Amino acid sequence: MKILVTGGCGFIGSAFLNLMVPRHKENEFVNLDALTYAANPMNLAGLEETGRYSFIKADISDEMQVRGVFQIEKPDWVVHFAAESHVDRSILGPKAFVQTNVVGTMNLLEACREIWGENEGHLFHHVSTDEVYGELGDEGLFTETTPYSPSSPYSASKASSDHLVRAWNRTFGLPVKITNCSNNYGPRQFPEKLIPIMILNAAEGRPLPVYGDGSNVRDWLHVDDHCEAIWQVMTSGKMGETYNIGGDAERTNIQVVEAICKAVATETGTDLDSKRDLITHVTDRPGHDFRYAIDTAKIKSELGWQPAHTFEQGLSETVAWYLNNSDWVETVRSGEYRNWIDQNYGARS
Ligand code: NAD
Ligand code: TYD
Repeated sequence: MKILVTGGCGFIGSAFLNLMVPRHKENEFVNLDALTYAANPMNLAGLEETGRYSFIKADISDEMQVRGVFQIEKPDWVVHFAAESHVDRSILGPKAFVQTNVVGTMNLLEACREIWGENEGHLFHHVSTDEVYGELGDEGLFTETTPYSPSSPYSASKASSDHLVRAWNRTFGLPVKITNCSNNYGPRQFPEKLIPIMILNAAEGRPLPVYGDGSNVRDWLHVDDHCEAIWQVMTSGKMGETYNIGGDAERTNIQVVEAICKAVATETGTDLDSKRDLITHVTDRPGHDFRYAIDTAKIKSELGWQPAHTFEQGLSETVAWYLNNSDWVETVRSGEYRNWIDQNYGARS
């Protein structure tokens, strides 16, 4: 079977490919990615040697590029990770979010419809977020039937894409599944999201910018646990269904930052207070959702999925990974890296 993965050079897509390509020797994997600022093809070093992995640089918001790739590759399954993924960037510039997350998803759905027709054995798996449900107060959990109420341009664009996927299932009979997951953490996350920013700033002695009073709550899941859940839904979940995925690990942002200070101080043999002193409360994010939390009963009872990492263990491993991989960090931060991508894969059109 040929599985086309979109956004495979990003944080979660690359974790997915690194886990699944070596393990599932019966399958061929094609990675379609536009190589935006968030992509790092070096995340996938060694996969081409399997002979079952290939990379195509293409932009999902470009209908002709998508149709061209699908006509040539004719994938059996599609797993759709590609997205603009950062809430703060969506506040600064929403347009790319609509282009990639909404128009791009529609282009993929149409391309699948074009090549699959009425044939059986296909799947469009849409990777989405719990942020589509909006925010919770102190109590309650998001279930698969919680009404959508997105707050940011990012979550509104992901909510739109979820609606399109369901509409293509109901109207055209496209075989789809959707997963909505909580906040991921782990190696190779671009240093713009909370956890990698805080690890690197703490290590480098720079301020740790906590939005508002730091009481906002997120549920955290290790990226590998998310990828295992996606694979389980792809292979055993019911067609047309949605599954929520979460880590049962709710933490306030300030708790996460304190835990990072502790782990960085331990790893580097420095004084904890010198790290905690870096915590700086800054202006809150506009429209900042207060709390996300997931009811994971459906995926656990129907598919038997369980996360393998506890938050504390996963966080210390992640801190150690960032501290031991300064080459990766310097590479994704440097202008030289963009030049390398442009030379090897051509500038983004
Ligand atoms: P990321 O920003 O790290 O990576 C996104 C990837 O998509 C990059 O490789 C980028 O080049 C590619 N991409 C972006 N625009 C593209 C386009 N127009 N055409 C082709 N490729 C394009 O994102 P991530 O954190 O790995 O998230 C992956 C998916 O998981 C997203 O759909 C996101 O909404 C969802 N998700 C993320 C989280 C999280 O905590 N990061 C949680 C739940 C769901
Ligand atoms: P983020 O990693 O951007 O994920 P999301 O907004 O999708 O949940 O942010 C996680 C939480 O951390 C969120 O409540 C905003 C907060 N935050 C900070 O306090 N400081 C920061 O520098 C960042 C990036 C986020």
